[in-house]
Amino acid sequence: MQLQLFEPGDFLTLKEASVWASEYLGKNVTTSNIAYLVNYGRIHKYGENGDAYVSKSELEKYYQSFNGRREHHFKNKLGEDLNWTLSFDQYTEAETTKHVHRLHPYKGKFIPQLVEYFIDNHTDDFKREIFFKDGDIIIDPFCGSGTTLVQANELGINAIGIDISYFNSFISNCKIDEYDIEDVLKETKLITLSLKKFLSNKSTPEFETKLLQELNIFNNKYFPSPEFKGKVNRREIDEVKYGKEKEKLFLPFFKKLVKEYDIELLKSNRDNFLDKWYLKHVKDEIEFVYGKIKRLRNSNTKNILKLILSRTIRSCRATTHSDLATLLEPITSTYYCHKHGKICKPLFSILKWWETYTKDTIERIAEFGQLRTDTKQICLTGDSREINLIDELINLDKKFATLVKKQKINGVFSSPPYVGLIDYHEQHAYAYDLFKFKRRDELEIGPLYKGRGKEAKDSYVEGIAKVLLNMKKYFAEDYNVLLVANDKFNLYPLISEKAGMKIVHQFKRPVLNRTEKDKGAYSEIIFHLKDC
Ligand SMILES: C[S@@+](CC[C@H](N)C(=O)[O-])C[C@H]1O[C@@H](n2cnc3c(N)ncnc32)[C@H](O)[C@@H]1O
Repeated sequence: MQLQLFEPGDFLTLKEASVWASEYLGKNVTTSNIAYLVNYGRIHKYGENGDAYVSKSELEKYYQSFNGRREHHFKNKLGEDLNWTLSFDQYTEAETTKHVHRLHPYKGKFIPQLVEYFIDNHTDDFKREIFFKDGDIIIDPFCGSGTTLVQANELGINAIGIDISYFNSFISNCKIDEYDIEDVLKETKLITLSLKKFLSNKSTPEFETKLLQELNIFNNKYFPSPEFKGKVNRREIDEVKYGKEKEKLFLPFFKKLVKEYDIELLKSNRDNFLDKWYLKHVKDEIEFVYGKIKRLRNSNTKNILKLILSRTIRSCRATTHSDLATLLEPITSTYYCHKHGKICKPLFSILKWWETYTKDTIERIAEFGQLRTDTKQICLTGDSREINLIDELINLDKKFATLVKKQKINGVFSSPPYVGLIDYHEQHAYAYDLFKFKRRDELEIGPLYKGRGKEAKDSYVEGIAKVLLNMKKYFAEDYNVLLVANDKFNLYPLISEKAGMKIVHQFKRPVLNRTEKDKGAYSEIIFHLKDC
């Protein structure tokens, strides 16, 4: 990046820059968004600590180079019929992961704004009719992490979810359940105290403090922030070579400390997920906390604490920060971290994440508690191709079962799995292992492990059509089915036909940056199906 000479009025504080950028872009830009640009070397920071400025012209130049260009690029690749309104790019990440939507990671969820758009009662140039109204019942036969259920509740619509993965139904029900916040607060506090006591006679806390001190000194020397990332961006440093060199340079410090504090790294017997992916000390803590949770009496408190523990242990797997989503090999020593541009370390204790996530979860369930409507949502575990809805509901909530039987279901809002894309059980292997939930991988429709060959596609078509046929038994007349899919293989016309439905409309939407790494242009279609 070339330094330029600026007009005096060109310098803005981070706060002023966020106000200016919000106006310029017509969307909410926060000071942390600006700080992100500075930290990642996209724009310069001027002035000293506590007195930081950025340049307005530099910021404008950055936005010009990016905004607009993205829409142009997407339409070039995916066609002019792309409906940019459905990109929801005016929403910040905090909004797309609002309240309970961020209680637990889940690969493959859609954003709440997309659900809202289709199930609420507004119309616009693209959505010319209202599909569902207050008091209706909708169903999501591929419920995943429960996004549809939560938004249905906010909008005063009853909803049923179904998922084949027990853990996914568990996440969904945790999101939608009501809690005695005082009880959750009390129990998390007690468990945190016991965990701290458990750690007080272990060597890991002191080992980690020492290791962090050493790392701080080392990283400040060799990876000063944000200068280092700036240099990498400008290709003044060969990041891979430099990172490897420094990783090697730090290793003796790490080994010395491991010996000094008698730290046990990985278990020798590594058959199951927990033994393979957790350092010995971490696994002991996980088992200690889970032992405490198991003894709780209030079942909703117990469930939400299990969810917090699951979120915690997901963050504590012995992997590099950039491989959190796709585990490669367990890591047992310090390493050069591409994501943070410095030497990082694996975790030796769950305490920090446990405390962070308990606080965050309690805030999120309290926030959602303020928005709840008095409607019913529930997620069932089962195979949507054959589940008997009424029988299952009767076991759990007789009153709701009667309502469903009498009023019937008004339609579907769902994103089915796609052919050979994700293994929905495997992504939460740690939770299945810890909680001993039963896995039913073989009943997943279109899992990654079955590939994308002809046989996989045929069985996918049969599977989704069978689900729609099964759901149809419970539908009211004039139902609406809305399915979100990136139908790369053009399978949905055949699926609709087999299910005795017709596609009456297709909404094509851009999907912006699904993950940090994935900046490619990608779109999906919301198929609107009705009875033939
Ligand atoms: C794309 S995800 C849904 C994500 C969801 N919309 C969300 O926001 O979290 C598809 C889901 O379908 C589930 N699934 C796959 N086969 C199924 C089956 N036979 N019956 C019910 N659910 C199934 C998977 O477990 C997965 O959670």
